[in-house]
Amino acid sequence: MTTDNRGSETVGVRARIGRREFIAGAGVAAMSFSIVKPESVRGSQANSKITVGLSGCGTRGTWIAGLFMKHGGFQIVAGADYFEDKVNAFGEKLQVETGRRYTGLSGYKKMLESKPDAIAVESPPWFHPEQAAAGVDAGVHVFLAKPVAVDVPGCRTVEESARKATAAKLCFRVDFQTRMEPNYREAVTRVQGGDIGTIISGEALYVCGPTWGGQGQFLRADPTNPENRLRAWGLDRALSGDIITEQNIHALDVATWILDAHPVRAYGACGRKGRDVGDCGDYFSVIYTFPDDLVVTFHSKQYGRGVDDIGCRMYGTDGTIDTHYFGEVSIKGKAPYDGGRTDNIYQKGAERNIAAFHDSITQGDFSNATAASSVRSNLTTILGRTAAYRRAEVTWDGMMKADERMEPNLSGLKEL
Ligand SMILES: NC(=O)c1ccc[n+]([C@@H]2O[C@H](COP(=O)([O-])OP(=O)(O)OC[C@H]3O[C@@H](n4cnc5c(N)ncnc54)[C@H](O)[C@@H]3O)[C@@H](O)[C@H]2O)c1
Repeated sequence: MTTDNRGSETVGVRARIGRREFIAGAGVAAMSFSIVKPESVRGSQANSKITVGLSGCGTRGTWIAGLFMKHGGFQIVAGADYFEDKVNAFGEKLQVETGRRYTGLSGYKKMLESKPDAIAVESPPWFHPEQAAAGVDAGVHVFLAKPVAVDVPGCRTVEESARKATAAKLCFRVDFQTRMEPNYREAVTRVQGGDIGTIISGEALYVCGPTWGGQGQFLRADPTNPENRLRAWGLDRALSGDIITEQNIHALDVATWILDAHPVRAYGACGRKGRDVGDCGDYFSVIYTFPDDLVVTFHSKQYGRGVDDIGCRMYGTDGTIDTHYFGEVSIKGKAPYDGGRTDNIYQKGAERNIAAFHDSITQGDFSNATAASSVRSNLTTILGRTAAYRRAEVTWDGMMKADERMEPNLSGLKEL
């Protein structure tokens, strides 16, 4: 069980933004909500569907393209993937004409030139900032998979893209399933309303079995082959962000959501003992300190078997909020709340985000509020990762100032 169950000089330059403009995790994006006539919203003329191009035609991309079609308000019209076999398999399944299937590292740019109304970005995380930014610059709505980025510069780019989208009356939505789940939403609202008193400490965890095992074959066959390296992106620190950013973000997103804050510092440790390929860790332990000396312990692992959980608990003076992605969501204490089990959150969360994306486009809601909270939890994972790599304390301010970039080895890969 896992939320992510899946079995040279060649790369484009990522858009950059100035540090001074960046307010990491500071609440929601500036509001810009306006009701506009449906016919004036690009791609939402009466009786027409919003056309979507997909970047990253792998497991999740192909699956989520089916959910866009199932919604009824979207039409998948184009696809871009580095690999021809991937985009063709997707194209056959979704009936995308061959002339609108694009390959190579820059295939998404060609896809944007073909002018869909929106793009869904489901490529490996390192590519997310540049592809989402290109979408906004091309004047299309953007639906973006988590994690939004692998490093601080990438997070800045995403925050800026969302801001630009708002100014350009475009929708920019990040797909965190938990944030749309009714039990989670109600429980978090109650906690933020004071139902568990003052939160003193908490814990978050993401424990599961081996992930990305299938990709190991490419590295074992020939790790010097650039295309093998790309096919094995989930095992590559820079392409994926490592497990704490790529996968464990689901747990840390809930922690930062409940607390509505980002940590001020962290220290930690990580390692790899259960996996024989790649340079990602397979366990992380981090102790975060939030404002008011509120401490959250975090643990994750991607090996072995026995217990699978994506959980978050916060302990307040009057009660405890206890959440599990595939289990119960509740509050126990003075003001209990029995939210009950989540219901197929993996799929329903994505469907809710797709529906909300459609509503935003057709109703002209360009507030793009999911971006800032997603950047905040993304940066929280980067803080924990940095501390764990160094086995030392790292402060939020120090991390932001250092502005470290991760650079994957893309040498030898084709642009188009
Ligand atoms: N619960 C969730 O929200 C959830 C679950 C699974 C995956 N994800 C995210 O979705 C993304 C894709 O994951 P996946 O499981 O489908 O992986 P995947 O490997 O099955 O698919 C990724 C695809 O991207 C392609 N690709 C590589 N470089 C590219 C580029 N430059 N441009 C376009 N495409 C490129 C790959 O060839 C591959 O087909 C990741 O960011 C992952 O973190 C989110």
